Amino acid sequence: MERLQKVIAQAGVASRRKAETLIAEGKVTVNGKIVRELGVKVTPNKDKIEVNGVPIDREEPVYFLLYKPSGVISSVKDEKGRKVVTDFLQDVEQRVFPVGRLDYDTSGLLLLTNDGEFANLLMHPRHKVEKVYVAKVKGIPSRDKLKVLEKGIKLEDGVTAPAKVKMLSLDKKKQTAIIRLTIHEGRNRQVRRMFEAIGYPVLKLKREQYAFLDLKGLNPGEARQLKPIEVKHLRELADTKKS
Ligand code: URA
Repeated sequence: MERLQKVIAQAGVASRRKAETLIAEGKVTVNGKIVRELGVKVTPNKDKIEVNGVPIDREEPVYFLLYKPSGVISSVKDEKGRKVVTDFLQDVEQRVFPVGRLDYDTSGLLLLTNDGEFANLLMHPRHKVEKVYVAKVKGIPSRDKLKVLEKGIKLEDGVTAPAKVKMLSLDKKKQTAIIRLTIHEGRNRQVRRMFEAIGYPVLKLKREQYAFLDLKGLNPGEARQLKPIEVKHLRELADTKKS
């Protein structure tokens, strides 16, 4: 038996919080009866659950790690017909969606799942999973400039949390530098905005790691299924770092 809101979230219908609202609003029925209390437990494949009159069919949860190429939208569809991340998982029957997003021009590690509960857990703002980015920037920032990023820099949506920064290489002739930046926040275009704020715009950006996961063995556009132990490990990380 599982909580009704959890089952709805896992079906990918809504986030857990949204599911709670739907229940409170009387939009959810279990075996034909409206349920408004949040504590109700149900048996997923036995009880008939409907949201707004539509049955939720609980798919088997699946978890993928994609090496997103740049020039691809982190979405399941695009009105302008541009390539989207799910185009790279066409053999997957389940309706997977990305966990968070990478910019159109950013390449690298992106998780996809049909497990809304899992996605919410990882995307929770309090959850501090480390993400490692490698950026090619225009210009060669001094040690002092990079220190500013390490300490935290004021952006329009507030000061960033301390980051780890390492200069990997520089090209004096071309006046570019390759810098590794490790952060655990996930604000919109955060890495690009951080470098812009110190005056070194990002020319190229790749996410190389997400928690303990990396891109080893994958080429751009390739994906692999996460191992059950990796899913478990990610869940534990998110749970412990939430409080
Ligand atoms: N930060 C960015 O600026 N872009 C991304 O895609 C991810 C992090």
